[in-house]
Amino acid sequence: MAEPKRYLSGIQASGKPHLGNYLGAMRSHVANADNAYYFIANYHALTTSRDAAALRQATFDVAADYLAIGLDPDRATLFRQSDVPEVTELAWLLSCVTGMGLLERAVSYKDKKAKGLQANVGLFTYPVLQAADILAFDSDIVPVGKDQVQHIEMTRDIAQSFNAAFGDTFKIPNYQLGTPKLIPGVDGQKMSKSYGNGIPIFTRGKALKKLVMSIVTDSTPLEDPKDPTDCTVFALYSLMATSEEKEALAERYRGGNFGYGHAKIALLEKINETFEPFRDRREQLENHPDKVEDILRDGAVRAREVARSVLNRARAACGLD
Ligand code: ADP
Ligand code: TRP
Repeated sequence: MAEPKRYLSGIQASGKPHLGNYLGAMRSHVANADNAYYFIANYHALTTSRDAAALRQATFDVAADYLAIGLDPDRATLFRQSDVPEVTELAWLLSCVTGMGLLERAVSYKDKKAKGLQANVGLFTYPVLQAADILAFDSDIVPVGKDQVQHIEMTRDIAQSFNAAFGDTFKIPNYQLGTPKLIPGVDGQKMSKSYGNGIPIFTRGKALKKLVMSIVTDSTPLEDPKDPTDCTVFALYSLMATSEEKEALAERYRGGNFGYGHAKIALLEKINETFEPFRDRREQLENHPDKVEDILRDGAVRAREVARSVLNRARAACGLD
C-alpha cells in the first residue's frame, strides 16, 4: 500500500490570524490532520518583530486559534517552530547550496523592502529557513495561500540542488492552494497581518461590525444593479457560503435596490455563523493557557524526532557525520 501523504504548513506569529489565513490555509489544515505537521513560525516572525511580549502573545494566539477552529492535536502535530532548533541547523546546510540569485528574485523580500521594512539577513534568507521547515519533515504536500507559491517552488529548487550535489536526500514537496485567488482585505488589497487590512477570525460584536462596515466598495447608488464579481464583500461572503447562498446574493446585487450596506450585513451574519461554534472554545483556551502549552510541548517532542532523523540523513550526505 502507498504511504499516506504527509502534510506540513506554518503560520507566522505576527498578529491575530485573519479570514485570509483561515480561508486560504488554516481551514484546509484542520481538514488534513492525519500525518500532518502544523507549526507557528516564530523564527520567521523574528525577521520583523522587535517586541518579545508581542511575539510570545502572537505565538499563543495562533496556537489557541488553531485548536479553537478544530485542529485535533491527537491527529495533527502542532508545534512552535523555535522548539525544533533542528530546522535552523538544516537551514545552514541548505544555505550552502542556495544561489544568491534565487533569493534575490524572492517576491516577498522585494515587497517587504518596497514597503519600507529594514532589510536584515534573516529577511533575505527567509526562504531558506522555510525550505528547512518543509524538508525536515519529508513533507509531500504544503497547504498554503497563493502568496506562498514562490516559496514552495524555491524549496523544490533548493532540495534539488542539495540532491544533485550530495545524492538523493530530500523528498520534493508540492503545494496545495486553499483558494485559487488571494483573499482581499477591507481595502481590496491582499488581506495581510502586516497591512492592517485584516478581519481577525475571533473578533466579534461591535469591533467586527466596524471592520466589516469599513470594507471599501464603489459608489454605485443603492437603487442601481451591481456587479458581484468585482466586490470584496461578495468575494468574502462566497468563500463561506454554499453555492445556493452565493447565487442568491449575486441575484440581489444584480437586481438593484440592494446597497453595499445590505451586503455587508449578510457578510457579517455569515462570519458570525461560521465562527460562532469556535468562539466558546477559544475563550476557554484563553483562560487555560497551560492546556495550549502542554499541547505545544507534546507536539515539539513528536516533531523533533522526525526533524532529527532527517537532519542526520542530511549531515551524513554532505560529510558532517
Ligand atoms: P500574513 O500575510 O497575514 O502575515 P502569513 O504570511 O502568516 O499571513 O500566512 C499564513 C498562511 O495564510 C499562508 O499559507 C498564506 O498563504 C495564507 N494567507 C495569508 N494571507 C492570505 C490571503 N490574503 N489570501 C489567501 N491566503 C492567505
Ligand atoms: N512564509 C509563510 C507565510 O508567511 C509561513 C511559513 C514559514 C511556512 N514556514 C513555512 C508555510 C513552511 C508553509 C511551510 O505564510
